[in-house]
Amino acid sequence: MSEGDMKQRLMVALDMPDAAQALQVRDQLAEHVGWFKVGLRLFVAEGAPLVRALLQSHKVFLDLKFHDIPNTVAQAIESAGALGVQMVNVHAAGGSEMLKRAVEAAARFPDMNLIAVTVLTSDAMPAEQAKLVAVERALLARDAGLDGVVCSVHEVAAIKEACGHAFLTVTPGIRWGGQSSQDQKRVANPMMAVQQGADYLVVGRPIIQADIPADAANEAVQMMCKA
Ligand code: C5P
Repeated sequence: MSEGDMKQRLMVALDMPDAAQALQVRDQLAEHVGWFKVGLRLFVAEGAPLVRALLQSHKVFLDLKFHDIPNTVAQAIESAGALGVQMVNVHAAGGSEMLKRAVEAAARFPDMNLIAVTVLTSDAMPAEQAKLVAVERALLARDAGLDGVVCSVHEVAAIKEACGHAFLTVTPGIRWGGQSSQDQKRVANPMMAVQQGADYLVVGRPIIQADIPADAANEAVQMMCKA
């Protein structure tokens, strides 16, 4: 795959406190990545206007991990679709009915992928158990009609085998070159992620806290290209 294709599979987590800092990183990375991920910190601080600003130049994954009663989650998914984001997520642990209602709500927005969080990559659960739980939750999500899951690189192959190749896997917990894993437990480098079949790689601190974020993003893309 070309470098351009790999950039479209790299999502940078804009876990910053405000719009000014987020937009500064957006500008620094404009040519280097295809996606930005907006999570709780930034969304709580800046909300929809910031998402709309990012959508002018990039795809956006709204990572708010909805987990509530089915009706409330369905309404939140509708709001995400109306905002125009290309990806949004819910917790698979919310159960089958919640997942199905989320799928119904997302159906009105065919350009938006709906994915489920399986097991957080920060969870200290032993690797074998994490894999079993992740596959079980991925099957629940697939059966409810979701497009894919968030999982660690270590679970991608098992999930693809159980749910089919077209079922998307989005993998955080990416580290390389001796970087600290920080609070992440099941980490892997960008080359491994692509080799394992991850569709999208989510990278936060290794890029946004780098001295030169564009260089770090480029390093990640080069490693993805080696896969
Ligand atoms: O800084 P770091 O690369 O660890 O950031 C990973 C990002 O992915 C964070 O925004 C985190 O909230 C998110 N994430 C995760 N594990 C999940 C789902 C999302 O680390 N299962």
